[in-house]
Amino acid sequence: MLGARGGWRALRRCASLPRAVRLRVREALGAREAAEAVRVQGWVRSVRSQKEVLFLHINDGSSLESLQVVADPSLEKRDLTFGSAVEVQGKLVKSPHRMQNMELQAETIHVVGPCDIWSFPLKMKERHPLEYVRQFPHLRCRNNTLGALLRIRSEATAGIHSFFQDNGYVHIHTPIITSNDCEGAGELFQIETSREAKESAENTHFFNVPAFLTVSGQLHLEVMAGAFTHVFTFGPTFRAENSQSRRHLAEFYMVEAELSFTENLQDIMQVMEDLFKTVTSTVLSKCPRDVELFHKYIAPAQKGRLEQILKNKFMIISYSEAVEILKQAPQTFTFKPEWGCDLQTEHEKYLVKHCGEVPVFVVNYPYDLKPFYMRDNEDGPEHTVAAVDLLVPGVGELCGGSLREERLPFLESRLQRLGLTDAYQWYLDLRKFGSVPHGGFGMGFERYLQYILGVDNIKDVIPFPRFSHSCVL
Ligand code: 4AD
Ligand code: MG
Repeated sequence: MLGARGGWRALRRCASLPRAVRLRVREALGAREAAEAVRVQGWVRSVRSQKEVLFLHINDGSSLESLQVVADPSLEKRDLTFGSAVEVQGKLVKSPHRMQNMELQAETIHVVGPCDIWSFPLKMKERHPLEYVRQFPHLRCRNNTLGALLRIRSEATAGIHSFFQDNGYVHIHTPIITSNDCEGAGELFQIETSREAKESAENTHFFNVPAFLTVSGQLHLEVMAGAFTHVFTFGPTFRAENSQSRRHLAEFYMVEAELSFTENLQDIMQVMEDLFKTVTSTVLSKCPRDVELFHKYIAPAQKGRLEQILKNKFMIISYSEAVEILKQAPQTFTFKPEWGCDLQTEHEKYLVKHCGEVPVFVVNYPYDLKPFYMRDNEDGPEHTVAAVDLLVPGVGELCGGSLREERLPFLESRLQRLGLTDAYQWYLDLRKFGSVPHGGFGMGFERYLQYILGVDNIKDVIPFPRFSHSCVL
């Protein structure tokens, strides 16, 4: 601790220093007028040394664009290299350069953290392919593409929360560790302490019962929809599918909503469509430059397609119609389309193409294909449930949802047939105490990003790809 006298001395010392205002790169680039004493911190994206002048570009992750720093060559140091962390102090002035608004005339340049350019895997002015930077999960966020992606991801997250909050939904933190396996949603990761894993004895569970990482927050949301009518959750979800596909992850984020007093599947579809359109419009308007990078270099035709999609209503077809379309397709599929069989990726692709490469809702799936909680349509020989999947070009299934079976006798008999009555007593309770028609859906957040940005591999839309698949990268 400083004594009283020491404290005063330190204060006087501070007061005599020029107080440079610290600006983020984004703020500096967007400044309306020049400023005398400004401080910018970030990482060097380029160094160009000329006889009369030294040019740097500094990026701090606040925008895709870097700030140009102009300095006297005498300020150049040996460790002022591409990748090094710096603090630059000087004057912010209007730039004579047509492409940028402001630049920083450096008075001091302090290298905070040097960077060994020979072993640093990113190279100055190179457009590294996504496959290349994927090898460096701890460094790839310093690359333009991943930087843009992560800013978009952050805006989309905020946009999703705003959409639901603005429409009167209550946000619920559903559990990550749960004993409920949301029957049929996917393969589970089981939770054990390291001691249990070693002993692998059956009755030593930490929670006394087997526990898993959640595959969906739906059943917990249904509980809450019974009190708040409109609820949503947006959190990590885990599926132990042994899939190496470019659209499956072991850990992904799912947006889920549940709505009470909803009798019509159409109402659920409307929320899916509104969510998609509102969040996408927000992302396009809040990070135009970041999105442009993807639409310019990764998926050139995506921009126009997306603009069209935002203007038009999504298409709706029934599962039965979908099977008919597939049966009449001029191509042969690996999995023969048959009423009662699940739609495979190849089928989803064909359907989307057949409908003109636009998002398509497929509704009313066979009763026997879907989990117990989906509402029986009671519709004769082609017996279906009120389920809906939203298929989108390039990705396939983006959202899955349904009306839930709110009628106690229907649910009881279905659970009994499946031998699940005891495990789901609490779920049956919800149908005994003020049950209402309700429904909801889940949207895969990474698949959403993949689709709007036109990214081929789902591993390229997550911050850290290490445990994304069944094999560690
Ligand atoms: O269709 P799913 O399995 O639906 C449910 O889990 C429901 N209980 C949700 C609900 O009604 N509340 O999953 C929803 C979405 C899928 O459409 C897909 O976009 C995404 O989650 N998804 C995955 N995304 C990445 N990797 C995986 N392994 C995924 N599995 C599902
Ligand atoms: Mg599904």
